[in-house]
Amino acid sequence: MDKNNLSENLMHIQGQVSRQLSKETVKKLIHQSHEAKKQAYCPYSNFRVGAALLTFDNFVFTGCNVENACYNLGICAERNAISKAISEGSRTFKAIAIASDLNDEFISPCGGCRQFMREFGLNWDVYLSKPDGSYVKMTVEELLPVSFGPEEVSIKKVFDISIDY
Ligand code: THU
Repeated sequence: MDKNNLSENLMHIQGQVSRQLSKETVKKLIHQSHEAKKQAYCPYSNFRVGAALLTFDNFVFTGCNVENACYNLGICAERNAISKAISEGSRTFKAIAIASDLNDEFISPCGGCRQFMREFGLNWDVYLSKPDGSYVKMTVEELLPVSFGPEEVSIKKVFDISIDY
């Protein structure tokens, strides 16, 4: 992928060859998610969230939650990071790390974000973290079992409306 047009902030993790992340890469990704959290625009909830998404070719796209006076227009950190990656041409992901200010709980992605992740595959990793850097790793499939995805949209249906057009 040509990353020449991208901002200088785009981070590339060297030496992370396999899909399975090294301990060092996990640490970096979680650190990036906590850095992204600092940009959160959350005047209504005061609940900061950051995300750092690792692409198949080891680039990191970050995102934070961005709220709005029209409350339902707010966007979560995870969807923000994924949308940034997609709009820059990346569609295959190894992992996403999520950060919040919750000390006693690992931040867990909302249902909408789970579905948003699922669009881009079931078999990639989600790191739910705490501010001290500790984490729990789950796959997208574990977070959203028995899901509805792009494959279901295109399989044969009992009634095919395209025939009528
Ligand atoms: N939020 C996220 O950004 N990601 C999640 O997975 C959970 C919730 C945001 C949305 C809203 O801005 C704030 O956290 C409180 O719900």
